[in-house]
Amino acid sequence: MGEKQIGILTSGGDCAGLNAIIRAVVLRATGYGYSVQGIRQATNGLMADPPQAIALDIQNVENLLTIGGTMLGTTNKGDPFAYPMPDGTTIDRSAEIIAGYRKLGLDALIGIGGDGSLAILRRLAQQGDINLVGIPKTIDNDIGITEHCIGFDTAVNIATEALDRLHFTAASHSRVMILEVMGRDAGHIAISAGIAGGADAILIPEIPYTIESICSKIRQRQDQGKNYCLVIVSEAVCSQEGELITNTNVLGQCRLGGIGQYLADKISFCSGAETRVIVLGHTQRGGIPSPLDRLTASAFGVAAVDLIAEGKYDRMVTWQNRQVVSVPIESAIAQYRKVNPSGTLVKTARGLGICLGD
Ligand code: F6P
Repeated sequence: MGEKQIGILTSGGDCAGLNAIIRAVVLRATGYGYSVQGIRQATNGLMADPPQAIALDIQNVENLLTIGGTMLGTTNKGDPFAYPMPDGTTIDRSAEIIAGYRKLGLDALIGIGGDGSLAILRRLAQQGDINLVGIPKTIDNDIGITEHCIGFDTAVNIATEALDRLHFTAASHSRVMILEVMGRDAGHIAISAGIAGGADAILIPEIPYTIESICSKIRQRQDQGKNYCLVIVSEAVCSQEGELITNTNVLGQCRLGGIGQYLADKISFCSGAETRVIVLGHTQRGGIPSPLDRLTASAFGVAAVDLIAEGKYDRMVTWQNRQVVSVPIESAIAQYRKVNPSGTLVKTARGLGICLGD
């Protein structure tokens, strides 16, 4: 089998469970007698000269299981094929990354990322003959081929807990509380946390809504003697006119955000209800990973090293039918998954009488 040098990096937005993957990879690799280099700040660590990496052993990873974030650092900016330079131009820095991989003497690379990161890593791997294995992570849970992406379950737990807490204050003040959650173009966090947290209305990008429909839910509850309402909304839900609501910072960077406040104003106007907005933001990515994320992270980490031991590359580990299998990265990233408007969760929400805005 021979000793192998495995590189591991985390790429894209962080989430809970990344450190648990790193731990599992190191533990499994050590079992094979392989060594592991942790690459700092995603592909930036390979782009640096000398490459920025840290040797990982059992001691380094001992306490990682429950720690949020990523000990290696990450970035969700700077596509190496169009890398932004200070003068505003972009250049292709892929050759530097491939050179960094060679300088570290790596035999294989484990890339932990969402669909965007995995697509970039695969392109680098093809160009540089890198033996790549992918592990899916994203709180957005939008990689279609796997039932779990690392970080999603923790994010849902956090959003659910927020709703649990909001129930009491909403009832005390007879208010409509609007919880804005992440998820980019997919409404997985909102629909899951909305059902689990007992929301009265769930708005997701996949289902068009009207303000009147939400206000009629508020009135229906009032008629039933319930003086408050909990609404959960995905960040990429558009205005009624179909406009994406974003905010731009002083550096000109544009981000999703603001649909909660938009809805609050419209709902107050239409129903007369007092509204408050809670933007959960990056709390959904932080903190201690849930047991399910730890479990999946551990299984994915072990399976990724097993693929390397078998010499199977250009594959991503996935969770399917209660087990870990692997699929070609190409097919994994081709299957973007939004919430199915006629799927089980939407049917469940409707069956519970939750307003979906339509
Ligand atoms: O993709 C993960 C995610 O958390 C999205 O849900 C969110 O829209 C985005 O990243 C936020 O990115 P940033 O950390 O750059 O603000």
